[in-house]
Amino acid sequence: MSDFNIGQFPTTRLRRLRMKEFSRRMISENNLSVNDLIWPLFVCEGNNIADKINSMPGICRYSIDNILKELETAVKLKIPAIALFPQIDSDLKDENGSQAIDENNLICRTIKSIKKNFPDLGVICDVALDPFTDHGHDGLIINDIIDNDATLKVLEKQALVQATAGCDIIAPSDMMDGRVGRIRKALDENNFQNTLILSYAAKYASKFYGPFRDAISSSGNLKGGSKSTYQMDVANSNEALREVALDIKEGADMVMVKPGMPYLDIIQRIKSKFNIPTFAYQVSGEYAMIKGAIDNNWLDSKVIKESLLSFKRAGADGILTYFAKEIAEELNNE
Ligand code: PBG
Repeated sequence: MSDFNIGQFPTTRLRRLRMKEFSRRMISENNLSVNDLIWPLFVCEGNNIADKINSMPGICRYSIDNILKELETAVKLKIPAIALFPQIDSDLKDENGSQAIDENNLICRTIKSIKKNFPDLGVICDVALDPFTDHGHDGLIINDIIDNDATLKVLEKQALVQATAGCDIIAPSDMMDGRVGRIRKALDENNFQNTLILSYAAKYASKFYGPFRDAISSSGNLKGGSKSTYQMDVANSNEALREVALDIKEGADMVMVKPGMPYLDIIQRIKSKFNIPTFAYQVSGEYAMIKGAIDNNWLDSKVIKESLLSFKRAGADGILTYFAKEIAEELNNE
């Protein structure tokens, strides 16, 4: 038997509370607010560019000037933070991802102009080498394997150039062991004690990232086709708790689960075990599925909000979603 009094029909009727709109609102357990939204954006070189991404209808890569225009709307809508992803020109990619640690790279220039124009908007940047390597992997390949410890040295530097450019939240998405601790140490030693770390702690080797890899032009390159020697096996759940425990110990301020909707169980387990700020990433493939179905009139667009509320129910404190702008508009009009 359950630990609360469930009552009995006909004295107890759960539909009684559902009869009117006011009482449905009164008993609603979870709410989605603009404060929960983080907006991922793709940035590319050039001027006045808004390049459509085929597998993500409605989403573009923007040149810096156009990103600033988009952010004007984001700030008006009170979206607290954005996450930036660069599409690096293919002739600048190399096996070591050396652009990643260039203080004048596309991502650093973007951070600087955002911070100049919108100093109060939270800026989140990935730490991982995949946008910068010609093989599309997140780390350095040495003797045919992704070399963990050699990669850490580059990731530290990547985090530092981003923090120096003004990034508020460093988000290691590379899944190398020990990276959170090393990045925290590098930040602290360079006077970035207040730069936050949002760790992609439970990041799965998922096929739901397909459209993202198109967006940053890394899919064609991906050597070996899979990231399963560093990203987690989609069958695992206990391992996610170990990942989170280690990242907290190493200094993560917040953790993330990725992808989102197929992994709500993981969000719930992490949140209830660690009670740490926990974020979900509704990734590119989830966006493509939902948006594709809406555009074909197979689903009503209200499924967007339903999908985002599912993260709140699971215990997420916020959601990275490509729907952030349109949902923020809707929430602001309520
Ligand atoms: C890079 C990175 C990926 C995503 C965010 N950061 C792709 C990957 O790991 O291959 C995916 C985001 C999305 O699919 O929307 N490390």
